[in-house]
Amino acid sequence: MKDLSFRRHRRLRQSASVRSMVRETHLHKEDFIYPIFVTEGANEKNEVPSMPGVYQWSLDLVDTEVNEVVELGIPAIIVFGVPNSKDDVGSSAFHDQGIVQKAIRQIKENHPDLTVIADTCLCQFTDHGHCGVIEEGKVLNDRTLDLLAKTAVSQAEAGADIIAPSNMMDGFVAAIRHGLDSAGYTDIPIMSYAVKYSSAFYGPFRDAAHSSPKFGDRKTYQMDPANRLEAIREAESDMEEGADFLIVKPALSYLDVIREVKDFSGYPVVAYNVSGEYSMVKAASQNGWINEKEIVLEKLTSMKRAGADLILTYHAKDAVRWLQINK
Ligand code: PBG
Ligand code: ZN
Repeated sequence: MKDLSFRRHRRLRQSASVRSMVRETHLHKEDFIYPIFVTEGANEKNEVPSMPGVYQWSLDLVDTEVNEVVELGIPAIIVFGVPNSKDDVGSSAFHDQGIVQKAIRQIKENHPDLTVIADTCLCQFTDHGHCGVIEEGKVLNDRTLDLLAKTAVSQAEAGADIIAPSNMMDGFVAAIRHGLDSAGYTDIPIMSYAVKYSSAFYGPFRDAAHSSPKFGDRKTYQMDPANRLEAIREAESDMEEGADFLIVKPALSYLDVIREVKDFSGYPVVAYNVSGEYSMVKAASQNGWINEKEIVLEKLTSMKRAGADLILTYHAKDAVRWLQINK
């Protein structure tokens, strides 16, 4: 047998400085996008029970949160609206005085250099909680597209820098691109939720955003967690339709899909580290069962190693603080 005892992988692990020299993946503050929930009313700072450390903010208070993000050097936020009125077509999603439109206007005025991303969907704004128009118990694809395009244009008018459609109707990128371009917003990129699985990991978000479907589920439009090749088809069609970024969501159980989409597309890929992934870590760390900091940095590093360029995460502020200390 050949003597291979000269091969010593541990040579490169012997000290912190050598390890840092051969480290392949790094987290930076610029990698993160922080989600912010905005709600109507005044003096509201409501912690989401299933997401410790995450709040719904009324607009008179939201600047404290945004300031923190800016001071930490996180380059972007994504805004989710919790409206006080809902109807069957989600009109408050595309109203000029909708909660998201008001929030974007205010945040951009106070923080012109912060990139403000608008989540474009209808489920928080429809009384039935689905991401599109319903007829005979079904979510209609093409009638929903017009409303999504209208929503995107109203968000752009309010000052959104990037439009992030999350509703999984077929053709939503093309419809939104066309809507934005016709309204003169040819420079606004689309960060498409291209690969979005029908996932139990969204549970806490639906508490936060009051967006659970009142009947049925989202399986007729969101993807089956069992499918990998379908993710490539979804990414491919969004690229053809003009998407600028591709989101894979959730992140942690789908690291293989992140790698696949990155290699296939070569596009900027965004991992959405979703609410349920956050809540599990929070719950376990509150019980003293895990080391929150180590777990979070390991998870986020894994997402980048898998091929994500950016990470949308509720851990963003904590992660940046921990990275500063580690330096
Ligand atoms: C709405 C939307 C959802 C999330 C982002 N946008 C939930 C859903 O599809 O029900 C999930 C985010 C999270 O869980 O953190 N279309
Ligand atoms: Zn939705």
